Amino acid sequence: MSFRQRTHTCGELRAEHVGETVTLNGWCHRIRDLGGLFFVDLRDRTGICQLNCDVNAIVGLEKLRSEFVVAVTGKVAKRTPEAVNTKIPTGEIELIVEELAVLNECDVLPFPVSDEEQMDKVSEELRIKYRYLDLRRPSMYQKLAVRAALVSGIRKYLDDRGFLEVETPIFTRSTPEGARDYLVPYRLEPGKFYALPQSPQQYKQLLMVGGIDRYYQIAKCFRDEAQRADRQPEFTQLDLEMSFPVQEDILQLTEGLTCEVCNSVIEKFGLDFEPVGRFPRLTYDESMTKYATDKPDLRFDLEVFDITDIAKKSAFGVFQAIASSGGIVRGIRYPGGAELSRNQIGELETFAKEFGAKGLANIPVVGVNPLDAKGIAKFFSPEELAAILDRAGAKHNDLLLFVADVEESVLNVLGRLRNLIGERCGLRDPRKLVFCWILDFPLVFWDKENQRWEASHHPFTGPKSSDIEFLESDPGRVRAECYDVVCNGVEWASGSIRIHRPDIQSRVFNLLGIDEATQQARFGHILEAFRMGAPPHGGIAPGIDRLAMFLLGEDNIREVMAFPKIGGGYDPLMDTPSEIDQSQWDEIGLQLKKPIKE
Ligand code: AMO
Ligand code: AMP
Repeated sequence: MSFRQRTHTCGELRAEHVGETVTLNGWCHRIRDLGGLFFVDLRDRTGICQLNCDVNAIVGLEKLRSEFVVAVTGKVAKRTPEAVNTKIPTGEIELIVEELAVLNECDVLPFPVSDEEQMDKVSEELRIKYRYLDLRRPSMYQKLAVRAALVSGIRKYLDDRGFLEVETPIFTRSTPEGARDYLVPYRLEPGKFYALPQSPQQYKQLLMVGGIDRYYQIAKCFRDEAQRADRQPEFTQLDLEMSFPVQEDILQLTEGLTCEVCNSVIEKFGLDFEPVGRFPRLTYDESMTKYATDKPDLRFDLEVFDITDIAKKSAFGVFQAIASSGGIVRGIRYPGGAELSRNQIGELETFAKEFGAKGLANIPVVGVNPLDAKGIAKFFSPEELAAILDRAGAKHNDLLLFVADVEESVLNVLGRLRNLIGERCGLRDPRKLVFCWILDFPLVFWDKENQRWEASHHPFTGPKSSDIEFLESDPGRVRAECYDVVCNGVEWASGSIRIHRPDIQSRVFNLLGIDEATQQARFGHILEAFRMGAPPHGGIAPGIDRLAMFLLGEDNIREVMAFPKIGGGYDPLMDTPSEIDQSQWDEIGLQLKKPIKE
């Protein structure tokens, strides 16, 4: 039999089709040969249909193997009551096969795509090497489908509001976003390179100078930086920019878009999440003080407390010394933590030390009277202890954990401990997506290692107009017109009102240690554009991959990408990066400093 085109998909047949003759195309998901009875679960992207084959009538059944691609024609029949499968939508019917044609055979596979339980044991590298097989699993299809629905929801939301989708170049010049660039050699002038964009930041600003007014793009970005579970070397942003906005316009737009798109995808796919609501707003300072991080997980409200003033006057030598020499002492409450064993508390201390803490002092709140607390409680007077318990909001059976050090180190450790406690105490409700705004970031921070001011976000971020006067005299106090969105403790989006005046852009470059000559060489085009009627403008860029991660409950960004990279950017499917021919080296006029293999 030649190829027969399908009349239906595998997942759509129901009792109402009984009696119809149909043709299906798909993969043999599972084959059951029960002697006289021969069943095949036929699969395509829409689901599974049971084929009932008469071993005496259909030729070639014995050659059929898992993942063979077939076309079958037959009559839809009702299953007997005991054979009904309520777990699948087509479970009331089966197809009584009249003709079967193998469209393509299949080798023995490196892993059983039809067995989700077995698939849990397959290494991720193998799954990515054979991603085209991995993608046959309905669970993987669902991930791509959720991702696609997010993108199409975003497009619709922005198209309806007068945004124009514009593509910007991939071969471009480096835009500083904090990572290394991927470089592409330019054949016609050996020694010159394009950079792949870390983001379309400069182009979108130039689009504003071009009067586009409202721009967006589903933009591929490329960053050569250390890989993490939520980072890939190439990833996708929703990049957008508006002319003549105030900060509030961009906050409202982003919040409206996120709620509408997420809630419609949650509903469409029946995802187990509460609807996404309004975003609470925190200033950077507030977030650092309350949660010891600028990426707070607001699914729970556990707050850090400060006891520096008490420590300064206390008899506890370690704290007293640190508090008196410019350090701080802060703590966090571990609800119910007084029941932890000595070993478990020791593990918390090891965790804290891994992130630079010098120690992790504790007070278990036990005994009839709260003032009977143990641990370092003995170093404090009853009044001091009462004040500490009060600031911590301590309840019977809590464990109070304290870190004393310079501020940066204390916050780093407590921020991580807070997440750990949230996880351990079941405070991170997996059914919640809590987005929040972090506002009023400092424009720059002091990079101790390199002894210079670094942009907190990027050099195009506008200082608050009231702080511009301090750009040279006191850069550390300048706040930026800048905003991040954080979801469940992960940075999701970043944006700002930009600088649009060439004089201010130049002053910020100077502050960042970019001298006039370098400014002209690297950013002359944007300074020039700013001199030619650049409108005030601003925008934001949320990560599409991360949004898909949130909605799919994945901790690993690779799970929401069709063809992700592993390790330091390796693609095991294409086996790339790969070497190039000598003729290609010659064409680009380059040679390696050292041979690859010595
Ligand atoms: P930023 O560098 O903060 O801002 O990036 C914005 C968002 O992009 C996502 N993201 C990533 N996702 C996956 N893998 C990565 N390696 C990665 N790096 C970033 C995150 C992040 O919040 N041009 C500015 C935006 C602007 O100012 O409008 C920018 O790129 O979700
Ligand atoms: P020590 O007196 O050094 O044995 O410390 C007593 C307790 O204080 C131990 O639980 C230490 O982990 C803790 N500790 C020591 N230094 C610090 C610090 N800088 N911050 C928090 N706890 C500390």
